[in-house]
Amino acid sequence: MTVSMEKIPHPRSVIWRDDRLLLLDQRRLPTETIYLELTTPEEVREAIVKLAVRGAPAIGTAAAFGMYLGVKDIPDADAGRFWSTLRRVGENLRSARPTAVNLAWALERIRRRLETLKEHPVSELKAALLAEAHAIQREDADMCRKIGEHLLTLLEDGMGVLTHCNAGGLATAAYGTALAPLYLAKERGWHLRVFADETRPVLQGARLTAYELQQAGIDVTLICDNMAAPVMQKGWVQAVIVGTDRVAANGDVANKIGTYGLAVLAKAHGIPFYVAAPTSSIDLQTPTGSDIPIEERPAEEVTRGFGSVTAPEGVRVYNPAFDVTPAELVTAIITEHGVIRQPFGPGLQEAVQRSQG
Ligand code: MRU
Repeated sequence: MTVSMEKIPHPRSVIWRDDRLLLLDQRRLPTETIYLELTTPEEVREAIVKLAVRGAPAIGTAAAFGMYLGVKDIPDADAGRFWSTLRRVGENLRSARPTAVNLAWALERIRRRLETLKEHPVSELKAALLAEAHAIQREDADMCRKIGEHLLTLLEDGMGVLTHCNAGGLATAAYGTALAPLYLAKERGWHLRVFADETRPVLQGARLTAYELQQAGIDVTLICDNMAAPVMQKGWVQAVIVGTDRVAANGDVANKIGTYGLAVLAKAHGIPFYVAAPTSSIDLQTPTGSDIPIEERPAEEVTRGFGSVTAPEGVRVYNPAFDVTPAELVTAIITEHGVIRQPFGPGLQEAVQRSQG
């Protein structure tokens, strides 16, 4: 199904317009809706590193357009320069954030597509690259909608749902992954009560998830991360739904730091723990979660949250951006192709095969 962008209730995070990449600066939300206008791949890399654009699928899409920005002015006669620039720009963008596999996935997809056109003129290669970037974005929106439909089969009207970080429309082309069923439930007239973890240290839950759900008129209650346990204990949560930055071949799941703790809590309270994962986030080359590179971010995110000094000068800080939830704590992984249950290996393989046609 093709998603109608007009119906999407949140601002789009990645827009291609007039040979420029417009990125909604997610650092400024929820107070300001400002788009950065980027014209070079270096600017795109910086926007990814600094979290102006974030969320695994959105950074993959942004990097795809970033690739095009890197080669768009190369003249037709310069095929050698086209290919060497493509390699250099690709490596540079790929290194922007290591955990989200969607970044490498998008760049690899572009490389493979262009390899099939190897002898074609540079102008055709450039057109094909841009078309592929648009296809990545369009297909992401479709995948999200399908993930939402599959997830909805696991939910019922009236349930409480807890989510972490932002795996919503702002993190994708549309609807999000973990938040997609909430939008679809709303379209169907269901009432779900959503608890959004604030998500320390950079508050994607408070600034982004609470914002986009509130904009859509969905019943959302913001909680601090350390409030998830009592909220579950009170019986207010019937499902935890999170997104992912990378699913290893065995079903271990990397996602925003704090996700693993939530999975442990969910198990302790007998609550199903669902991971929404487009096949672009599944990495069959990575056997287990311990092989997933975990990004560590600057100490200032913890000690100087949003400008205030919140820790003594010079204190040692450990600030991993992601953690790994072992597969045995995951009730189901939901891709655009359906619901996968344990053991995850065969189902993940099948989903990836189906996505490759
Ligand atoms: O550091 P972020 O904000 O990029 O982390 C985002 C997440 O952890 C999301 O849950 C994940 O990328 C999935 S987004 C559909």
